[in-house]
This record gives sequence, C-alpha cells and structure tokens, in this order.
Amino acid sequence: MTSLFRIRERSKFRAVIVGAGAIAHDHARVLRLDTRAELAGIADIDYKKAQSLASDSGAAAYTDYKTMVSELQPDIAIITLPHYLHKTAAIDCTERGCHVLMEKPMALNTDECVEMNITADKHGVYLAVGQLQHHYAANRKVKAIIASGQLGKLVSIFERRHHPYFLPQRPDWFLDKAKSGGGVVINLGSHCIDKLQWIGGSPITKVMAHLTYYGTRGNVEGGGSLLMQTAVGVSAMISLCGYNNVTVNETEFIGTEGQLELVGSHSLWIAGEDRTYTQVDLGETVDVFEAQWSAFLDDIERGGPTDNSGEYGQSVCAVIDAIYRSDATGTEQDVISVPSPVPIV
Ligand SMILES: NC(=O)c1ccc[n+]([C@@H]2O[C@H](COP(=O)([O-])OP(=O)(O)OC[C@H]3O[C@@H](n4cnc5c(N)ncnc54)[C@H](O)[C@@H]3O)[C@@H](O)[C@H]2O)c1
Repeated sequence: MTSLFRIRERSKFRAVIVGAGAIAHDHARVLRLDTRAELAGIADIDYKKAQSLASDSGAAAYTDYKTMVSELQPDIAIITLPHYLHKTAAIDCTERGCHVLMEKPMALNTDECVEMNITADKHGVYLAVGQLQHHYAANRKVKAIIASGQLGKLVSIFERRHHPYFLPQRPDWFLDKAKSGGGVVINLGSHCIDKLQWIGGSPITKVMAHLTYYGTRGNVEGGGSLLMQTAVGVSAMISLCGYNNVTVNETEFIGTEGQLELVGSHSLWIAGEDRTYTQVDLGETVDVFEAQWSAFLDDIERGGPTDNSGEYGQSVCAVIDAIYRSDATGTEQDVISVPSPVPIV
C-alpha cells in the first residue's frame, strides 16, 4: 500500500458513501461520530435520498459517484449499492485511488471478486468487505471458546436463519436474480457462510444444496437446505427460509466435549460435562457498525492482514457459487477457491 491518505497533508480520512439506501444510514451514523474520518459526500441516483442523508451529516450530495470521487478526492469509498453494481463501483473507486469498504456480499460471483481484488492490488489500495458477523460480541465469544478447546473437537454446526423475505417494503432489485444474484442464499446466507467459516477458522470446501422457489415476488430462491463441509472436516447444516414464517436465527456448535447454542446475535448458552445449558456473560454490547468501521481504519493504518479482506469476501462468494451449482446439478460441489486457499484470520 503506497499511502494511507490521498492528500498527504490530511490528518483525517476523507470518506464518501456510494448509495444512500437503507444500510447507508448505519454507515453515515458511525461516520458522524468518528474522530479519525470525516464524511464528505454521499451519492445516489435518487438525489433526494443523497441530499437527505448528506444534510444530516454535513456532507455534499451527488447523483453521480464518479463526479463525487473526482471532485472530493476521498481516501475511502463505502459502497452500499445493489449487488449487480458492486463490481463496477468498486473498480471505479479503486482505480481512482480510494480504499474501499464494500457492503456484503462482495459481488454477484467469484469471477467478479477476482477482478475487483486484482484492480485494488494494482492500484495499491485496500479493498475490504463489511463482514458484520465478526463484530458481534456473542460470535467473538463463540470463536474464542472453540479456539480454547473447551468444547473438545468441533464436529458440527447447525444454523437456522428464517426471515420473511418477500415483504412489500423490500426493494424490487433484491427479488430480481440478475440484479441481486439470488435470494435468501446470497443475501441472508452470505452472513451464515461468513459466520461458520470465521468462527470455525476454516473455509467451506464442499456443498450439497437444495433450494426452493416459492416466493411471492420476483424470480429468486426463497428457501434452502445446505449441507457443507469445512477444510478441517467440520460438517455444517444451514436451513434458510424466506417464506411467511416465524423469524428464527439460531446456531448450535457441537464439540466432542460440549456445545454452544447461539440465539440471535446477543444470547449465548454453553453446555459441558453436566449436559445442561448455562448462559454465557457477553460483557458490554458493541455497535457492530462502529466496530466494523474502526477495524477497517485500523487495517488501512496497519496495512493488513485482516479477516475482512477482499480475498476473504471472495471466499464467501465462492461458497455461494457452489451452492447454486449444486442446486442446479443435484450434485455435491467443491468450492472453487481462486487463486489460492483463503486466509482466515
Ligand atoms: N450488513 C448488513 O447486515 C446489511 C443489511 C442490509 C443490506 N446490506 C447490503 O447493503 C447493500 C445495499 O442494500 P440496501 O438495503 O441499503 O439497498 P437499498 O436498495 O435500500 O439501497 C441501494 C441504494 O443504491 C442507490 N443506487 C442504485 N443505483 C445507483 C447508482 N448507479 N449510483 C448511485 N446510487 C445508486 C439506490 O437508489 C438506493 O438508494 C447490499 O449489498 C445489501 O446486501 C447489508
């Protein structure tokens, strides 16, 4: 990485946001309070959205993000666009010298991720993906307990992520496969895949998937059963459901000498020798967007390596590709890791 700041005299990172939709509000909120960075601009093709978020933040509003980047010369671009625009926007921003924080999933597929990573490398900037799961106190605790050996050897993980997906308030692009890349798998599933890989400390290498398409809008999958295996032989089963059912977010980690039950992102239970559950104290809760942003700035300052890198984001997309291939062919699929096995920090 050649420089942290685009303009040497700057003492704070100058950041912009590309896309002023739902999730952009979380990024803007964090930036307003940050002491290491300032939010200089927000771009959205819908000028009213850009202007409304910008005026809350003391930033400038644009409709064209390329104009914004060339006028403001930011050090960092946060990309919060529909999935089909991730690759182009990331490449446009990295080519213009910005470090980039992408919203998940990194892109529509692995090939797009490879192009993005190559471009960022070529221009000496840092490309990261917002893997929010790494910042929940409960997830961090699970990772630490498993790494400590307290559960013995981790053998399997069961995850249920059920959330009504086809509600009227969801923007249309999410339900259009060409624009989103898919439904519950690429959107909710990208969180699950990240969580399992990162907590278990090992990439998913094999996938058998069966998806269902009974959504009331669009042409994306609404449910799926995924059977997976990691490089160290842990098996994982994920149930995804976007139909009109009760919301569930639960993960069970089974070891040879104990187990953990994670309910939502804030409640964790452990069972050991006595085979009864006790609640685990998680300490202070954190604002995960604040933690993600702070870690991103640390990574830029340190020059990596990191668990939020573009290479890691690519590994999540490689699993998603394998899921869609498995469902289409009815066969187990290897996860194709390009160009090399993924570092999981
Ligand atoms: N980390 C999380 O938990 C989380 C939660 C929600 C969404 N997301 C991700 O965030 C991203 C955005 O999702 P969202 O829910 O905010 O979507 P959204 O539809 O609310 O926002 C997207 C915005 O992009 C704008 N836009 C479209 N084309 C544009 C262009 N060419 N230039 C500038 N602006 C353009 C739209 O007008 C819209 O305001 C997606 O990748 C999504 O998966 C992540």
